[in-house]
Amino acid sequence: MVGMPRRRVAVFGAGYIGLVTGACLAELGHEVTVRDINPEKIRLLRSGEVPIYEPGLGDMIVRNKERLTFTLDLDEALDGAEIAYVCVDTPPSASGDADLSRVWSVVRSLEGAAHLRAVAVKSTVPVGTGSRVRAALDAAGLAHVGYASNPEFTAEGTAVGDFMHPDRIVVGASDEATAGLISELHQGVDGPIVVMDVRSAEMVKLASNALLATKISFINEIATLCEKTGADVEEVARAVGLDHRLGSHFLRPGIGWGGSCFPKDSEALRQLANNTGYHLQLLSAVIEVNNLQKRRAIQKLKDELGTLAGTRVALLGLTFKPGTDDMREAPSTVLAARLLAEGAEVRCWDPMARPADSEPWTSTTRYETPELAVDGADAAIVVTEWPQLKEVDWARAASVMRRPVLFDGRNLLDPAGMRALGFTYLSVGRP
Ligand code: UGA
Repeated sequence: MVGMPRRRVAVFGAGYIGLVTGACLAELGHEVTVRDINPEKIRLLRSGEVPIYEPGLGDMIVRNKERLTFTLDLDEALDGAEIAYVCVDTPPSASGDADLSRVWSVVRSLEGAAHLRAVAVKSTVPVGTGSRVRAALDAAGLAHVGYASNPEFTAEGTAVGDFMHPDRIVVGASDEATAGLISELHQGVDGPIVVMDVRSAEMVKLASNALLATKISFINEIATLCEKTGADVEEVARAVGLDHRLGSHFLRPGIGWGGSCFPKDSEALRQLANNTGYHLQLLSAVIEVNNLQKRRAIQKLKDELGTLAGTRVALLGLTFKPGTDDMREAPSTVLAARLLAEGAEVRCWDPMARPADSEPWTSTTRYETPELAVDGADAAIVVTEWPQLKEVDWARAASVMRRPVLFDGRNLLDPAGMRALGFTYLSVGRP
């Protein structure tokens, strides 16, 4: 970008958000050092490998290797840095509130970094965190260092494009200079910058994810009602979404939302409200509907197969959505656990997933192809809408299954076509 000041940025955390932020800031021309405390991650990144699967990220890292380095060393990360970006994860704690221990450990490590001009937090945090970090910075003699909340709205699988062409960039800062610095850092990004106070910026992130989750739970409930009334949820969602006041996004019915963000952030927002003594009734229902949605899948199979004990069930797709290897809070985990508890044998296929080496996955069998997973099965469930599942020779699959029962949890396949192949075909909200 001609005329744009190049900044030295230290990014803390080499997870999805940190790597995408680091790579995209380097792409914009800044000098970036990404610091993580995990030696294996840093070793891989230094040897040119990306420890996560995110389309376009590897190429971007290679393209910007002159301006993008990875380190375990705190001093190296902070050397000459003007801005420290906090991109560490904030997993749920035992109480359901966000666990901020990693954020605090980064903030503590900044003590003495008097040359910094700003600390920006991308990690999703409860409203009010910025004020507490501000006070900690002040107490550490860093009162001159600005603070900004700069929440992340990228989605896994499209994160690089989302970062470079966002619907909006939210910058929450208590002073104009910091707001200006963080805004200017994004020069070259194709999207409007919205400047506000820190608490509001923190709330925008939580409210956005909660509203997206609400849309999905809403359409999932309508889908259930469609099943009971003979309407087709796909037609309903299409026409509802044409109303520009409502919008067509996030109205895809399915087996429930998962991932590293919606479950954690909706629970964290619920607890944030509970901590103020206010009960977010709508959000609580949204979470409950989602929990039910995963269990309804098992009930549908039971209705069809009678008992699940002694049956073989294939889970097609394990990740929480296609285009990622992320298994965090994936509905497949609940399905596998419930099927095993009912006495079924669970067979799995997924092109990218790396399920944890723990239950329920250690009690399941992995297959290289969907065809192998369904061979001899009593039922199969499309859990993740991987495009590969559209290419399966379903006619052959129907002939090798012990019972050709298919629950399409993502409405990926054509009902009439599947039934013509001999499948007992079940889906979500379609007659
Ligand atoms: C989500 C948000 O979309 C991002 O804006 C946000 O930045 C991110 O969380 C975060 O907080 O970091 P992500 O979790 O990557 O991104 O995935 P989504 O594409 O939003 O999907 C979330 C879940 O909802 C998936 O399980 C997906 O299958 C499900 N979904 C999504 C539906 O069931 N129906 C839909 O119509 C859309």
